[in-house]
Formats: sequence, C-alpha cells, structure tokens
Amino acid sequence: MTGRQITVIGSINMDLVTSTFQIPKVGETVLGQSFHTIPGGKGANQAVAAARLGGDVTMIGAVGDDSFGKTLVDHLTNQGINMKNILEVKGVSTGIASIIVSEADNSIIVVPGANNYITPEIIEKHEERIKASSILLLQLEIPIESVIRAAELAKKHGVLTILNPAPIQKLPQELLEMVDYVTPNEHEQTLLFASIDESNQIVGKLMEKCIVTKGSKGVMVYKNGEKIEIPSIKVDAVDTTGAGDSFNGALAYALCEGLEIEEACRFANVVGAISVTKLGAQTGMPTKKEVEEFLQVHK
Ligand code: RIB
Repeated sequence: MTGRQITVIGSINMDLVTSTFQIPKVGETVLGQSFHTIPGGKGANQAVAAARLGGDVTMIGAVGDDSFGKTLVDHLTNQGINMKNILEVKGVSTGIASIIVSEADNSIIVVPGANNYITPEIIEKHEERIKASSILLLQLEIPIESVIRAAELAKKHGVLTILNPAPIQKLPQELLEMVDYVTPNEHEQTLLFASIDESNQIVGKLMEKCIVTKGSKGVMVYKNGEKIEIPSIKVDAVDTTGAGDSFNGALAYALCEGLEIEEACRFANVVGAISVTKLGAQTGMPTKKEVEEFLQVHK
C-alpha cells in the first residue's frame, strides 16, 4: 500500500434515468424522451471521479445479490477502484435511484436497498484500510451511525476526512466536529446551519471547514480564516446529476496529491464543470488528461 490512498465509504446505486421535456404533475402521464440505466450512487460516483483522475481509490459499500449489483461491481472494478471490500447482501436489492432529467436539472428518489446494510460493525472491520488512507470521503446515503463510526476511526488514526452532507439530514455535532471539511451545496448549507443554535461555538468553526458548491455561482472556501469565492466555469450543461460528486472526488484527489485547499477547490471546480456536459452522473467525469485539455481551451 502506498501512502496516498483515498477510501470512499458510501452508496452504490443503479440510476434509472428518464429524460423528459415535461415533469409530470401528480396524477398526470407525459411522454418522455429517453431512458437509460447508468451506474450511480454518491459514494460510487465520488470514487469514480477520483479514480478517473488517477487516484488510488478503495471503496467500502454494499450491493444486493441481483444483476444490478454484479454489473456495478464489475463496472467500478473496471474503473480501477479496489472493490475487494464490497459486501454482497443476500436477498436484498441493490440501491437504485429513479432520476428525472429535465432541462439539465434533476429530481431523484433513492431506494437504498443494500446500502442500508453498511453497519458500524462492518465499518470497524475496515479499520486497517481507513488507517492506511490519506483521505476518507463520506456522504449520507448509508446509515448515519456508520458514517459517524467511520469518522471516529479516521480521527483516531489522523486521516483527513471530507464529509459531503448529501442527502442532507440533521447531523450530530460530534460528527461535524470530527471531520476536516464539509462540502454542502447552498441548500444543504442552509439546512445544516438551521439545525444549530447560533450561539453554539461550533457555528464559526463549522463555517470555516465548509466548502460550499453553488452551481452556476461557483464555490466558496475558507483559507486561513479568509473567505474565497471561486467563480464557476461556463459549459453547456446536459445533466447536472453527480456534479457535486465529481467535485468531491476531485477534491479528495487533489488534496491527496498535495494541493493546498484553494488550489484543490479550483481544480475540483473544473472537474465538476466538465462532468455536467454528458448525461449520467459518471459519464462526463474526466481523466487528468481531459482536464488538462479542457484548461488549454478555457484559459
Ligand atoms: O449525486 C447523484 C447521485 O445521487 C445519483 O447517482 C444517485 O444514485 C443518487 O445517489
């Protein structure tokens, strides 16, 4: 094992993606334009983003013993991700996300299935793997107790942890204190702070560890207590699904490569922009060479 490993603990889903000009109202039927099954899940997406850039990525997660599970494990293995720690849960379906894409924006329903079987006990079995990592990347599509346990183990071993608080839920203060960076979008940031009393001392500290992805308004990051706004990059967006995942995977990769936080965010901002130019969360995630080529054109 090298000293520059990224471990992603999180969800693995099959995305069932319907493109439509018109989103149906309750009780209404409309005709859509296309349907695709595309690998997804916030954990898997972030793992792919980091691996495509050249990261040494290990994933800890779970799939069911169905055809989606097998397809996804094969696919992620082919992306160069170490999938030896994936749990196959008997008699349970692999996680799915039903996604409607309309005018490049999306609505998503996630059915976690096997993702809910990642328990704190399973996380503990992977303590050595977490310990050997440079970066641990977490999201909220597995049980929260398991996210907390993973963060505790990372803290114990001095591993830098990024928490992408998506999909957002009320989070215990201990978790927010343990992680090094929290990467909400604007909506998630509002809800994150709404649940904390303003007089609580964690508010200031949490703000400074937040990296906020703001879509077409760019990214906000704190560096040495100073707020920095990184502008967005204009691209023709086809599908924004997974843009945040691309950002998080790229951020983990860039920090792992030794970039300081502002530069890492600028790099991840470019990767996020490139990723939305194709349909599907993982489809548009670039390789390092593709990022360099993009930057040649978009100086
Ligand atoms: O962030 C996008 C992802 O959220 C999709 O791939 C879907 O699986 C849901 O988990």
